[in-house]
Amino acid sequence: MDINITPVKTSKIKDIDFSNLAFGHVFTDHMLVCNYKNGAWEAPEIMPYGPLSFEPSARVFHYGQAVFEGMKAYKDEAGDLFLFRPDESVKRLNKSSERLAIPALPEEIFHKGLAELLHLENEWIKPGKGNSLYIRPFVIATEGAIAASPAQEYKFIIICSPAQAYYAGEVRVLIAEKFSRSADGGVGYAKAAGNYAAQFYPTSLAHKEGYQQIIWTDANTHEYLEEAGTMNIFFRIGDTLITAPTNDRILDGITRKSIVQLAQDEGVNMEVRDFSVKELKEAARSGALKEIFGSGTAAVVNPIKGFKHGDEVFELPEVTDSFAARFKDKLLNIQYNIEADPYGWRVKI
Ligand code: COI
Repeated sequence: MDINITPVKTSKIKDIDFSNLAFGHVFTDHMLVCNYKNGAWEAPEIMPYGPLSFEPSARVFHYGQAVFEGMKAYKDEAGDLFLFRPDESVKRLNKSSERLAIPALPEEIFHKGLAELLHLENEWIKPGKGNSLYIRPFVIATEGAIAASPAQEYKFIIICSPAQAYYAGEVRVLIAEKFSRSADGGVGYAKAAGNYAAQFYPTSLAHKEGYQQIIWTDANTHEYLEEAGTMNIFFRIGDTLITAPTNDRILDGITRKSIVQLAQDEGVNMEVRDFSVKELKEAARSGALKEIFGSGTAAVVNPIKGFKHGDEVFELPEVTDSFAARFKDKLLNIQYNIEADPYGWRVKI
């Protein structure tokens, strides 16, 4: 597979303050672009990062025919580059695409294109736990026509952004009682762009009350805890760790499934089951609730300091033997090539 590369004349890296990065605001010098036309994906190209032009009638603008992924590249102290479970990302991208009637991308384009792009952006990836390059692969429907039907033309694009923490500061969450993120038979399991836009309004209401995120509950009863929108969610009751099973409403998070595996292998009592708001509040009242944390590529593992449901507000206790800290550390050690990786999750590129 040939990839045509047009490098930038001058890199902008010298203007970037890597010690003070707001998540997702700075982009590297290059991007990968691959077009789908006449029933096939063409050869990808790498070009300077910059604006692209589209027909105002492109379907992505009208019908939201768009899917994305989130990944990170890590650098170890020897300067080697790694990805975490990239096979899972390309498979999920194509699963999301299928649901949005977008043609599947050949995995070779994803893997080879990304490796080539990352080698070009090597200087943007800083070593040290917590530094990474956030990778955003996405597919959009570019064919112009305001007909509400799948496009015949698409672009697969990868852009990259140097990253540190996703959430700055403490995170408290509101438990959803009115709005829903997804429903049975819907697109909740897909990384469809619209799943995120649909959360912005309810989340902005939560912000006004001082909550950073919403924990979404099942759309039918609002009784069961599902996911936090940018993260999957774990609850620790005593020494038991609980997370909701994935289904067609919940994103099958790669960090989530890695934590489930690590917890099981470390002998933690890991329960993947429906978990109700009632059970959560009872555990909070009795003192059995030790931790809540979110997991995701961008956020990694993020402790939740408190939550609100109805008129009731709960604060989480301080724990000395935090599961969140333990599994975050374990994951980062695998990702940054600090510890052995018995799972084959870390892929050198
Ligand atoms: C990720 O964790 O990579 C995601 O895709 C969530 C996004 C909203 C930052």
